[in-house]
Amino acid sequence: MPPEPEHPHIAVCPGSYDPITFGHVDVITRAAEIFDEVIVGVVNASVRKSRSLFSAEERVEFIASATGHLPNVRVDTFDILLVDYARRMGAKAIVKGLRAISDFEYELEMNQLNRHLADDIESVYLMASPQYSFLSSSGVKEIATFGGDVSDLVPDEVARRLKEALAR
Ligand code: PNS
Repeated sequence: MPPEPEHPHIAVCPGSYDPITFGHVDVITRAAEIFDEVIVGVVNASVRKSRSLFSAEERVEFIASATGHLPNVRVDTFDILLVDYARRMGAKAIVKGLRAISDFEYELEMNQLNRHLADDIESVYLMASPQYSFLSSSGVKEIATFGGDVSDLVPDEVARRLKEALAR
């Protein structure tokens, strides 16, 4: 057994997760193999972008059950600047998944802004696994809205709750 690190390497995996998809689970799982501890930070800021379909509590519940088998992953919410949240959690790294060029442009801007605010926090990008490179929460919601099958894109419970939520 390797010795316990004196200062555990902690990473925050931030996002809206509205809802979590298998693409997110893939990135979180891979981050958990690299870092001692991974905190999945769910954005809970109502001022941001459009209203989310699921409440922060629901989104946390979905993530917790999808990652329950990973002992070094925990789920939390935040409503402050991401870099301030990372610092508060003792995280030196922010981990995000990257799918396409469009992600790159947005993430580059976020990266520069975050570095401007906090150059002690490094952002790390994991390339999406090919089978998930097309997958997004908004795409899943769109498919579900029109009655399409999302059972191979999100955990079972999420697929079920999407059906219920969109039927309302
Ligand atoms: O694409 P997402 O999932 O909505 O991303 C959310 C997040 C927080 C990862 C992204 O907006 C980001 O990197 N924001 C940095 C700026 C910040 O700190 N915003 C405040 C969020 S409460």
